[in-house]
Amino acid sequence: MGKIILTGDRPTGRLHLGHFVGSLKRRVELQNSGEFEKIFIMIADAQALTDNADNPEKIRQNIIEVALDYLSAGLDPEKVTIFIQSQVPELCELAFYYMNLVTVQRLQRNPTVKQEIQLRGFSEGDDDENQNKKGTPVGFFTYPISQASDITAFRATTVPVGVDQAPMIEQTREIVHKFNSVYGETLVTPEMLLPENAACLRLPGTDGKAKMSKSLGNCIYLSDTSKEIKKKVNSMYTDPEHLQITDPGHVEGNVVFTYLDAFCNDEHFAKYLPEYENLEAMKDHYRRGGLGDGTCKKFLFNIMEEFLQPMRERRAIYEQNIPQVYEILKKGCEVARAEAAKTLADVRKAMQIDYFDDAELIAEHTKKYQK
Ligand code: TRP
Repeated sequence: MGKIILTGDRPTGRLHLGHFVGSLKRRVELQNSGEFEKIFIMIADAQALTDNADNPEKIRQNIIEVALDYLSAGLDPEKVTIFIQSQVPELCELAFYYMNLVTVQRLQRNPTVKQEIQLRGFSEGDDDENQNKKGTPVGFFTYPISQASDITAFRATTVPVGVDQAPMIEQTREIVHKFNSVYGETLVTPEMLLPENAACLRLPGTDGKAKMSKSLGNCIYLSDTSKEIKKKVNSMYTDPEHLQITDPGHVEGNVVFTYLDAFCNDEHFAKYLPEYENLEAMKDHYRRGGLGDGTCKKFLFNIMEEFLQPMRERRAIYEQNIPQVYEILKKGCEVARAEAAKTLADVRKAMQIDYFDDAELIAEHTKKYQK
């Protein structure tokens, strides 16, 4: 059996550098490696609705943004299937059956769900009783189960994601194991694929906060203009103790250096900053003192422009062909649906709920009542 990829993103905004280094860049490389039999990239609108039930317009507007970001990053619709989650209703049915294999207590232990409940301010409240305390929507609470259907529906062997998704993959593996042991070997156990580079595992925001996030306003978007990138790079958090160029500086916790860790290679030095052989030499100089933040930021800007500029150009072309982008998505949904339907048929058979395809069942009951 060939290797199959499934992964995706929630369409709650444009994609940013965190998405790019966490998973998108890898997807393009994997697509071009030719190592995979099939690749499915999903725009997870149904999952986005689990905590945006009152804002469907936001999701509706961002599906096209995410699709444009995918295409501009280099995902090729000839090689990957890009589709929209809600257009594959088979996924809901799978999730409904998987729900019987997961306990409330297990979901409550999922670290990502736990953290997100905190972050979103879902307290113990009940909407009906107290308007100020909003409770956790059941759909949100159970989204790891829905994510297990996304992954298993496509028989994914490989799920390239950021590290925050690790608990979801773990939970999917448990569901697969449980399903297969109860109903017989049916589902494929997926492996998670994390970024290799530590700086890419969790890219901090431009303000130095632990995570790049739209709500914190510390993102660099893949679709930002050159001018916006320059402004954001120039206002990046560096080392507050590095006041004079001659002062010794810290590279740990210094966002410019974290981004350099994520993005730069030795060729970039030869091209843009030949005074240093590599990042280690540059860091040494910064630590000793004598290297200014301006030089570091200019270097980072040049490196980022090198991969962002071609994306901008591709985006501009697709932006002038929006009906074509919708057509790509529509085709993708058809392909995805056919694939998910196959798995659903296997699941129904394994669970013995394929009554009308089960000739033995009719024979058995005929015999039972025959006089
Ligand atoms: N939870 C993922 C995110 O927030 C999106 C997602 C939904 C996903 N279903 C998936 C990722 C299945 C990988 C596999 O970005």
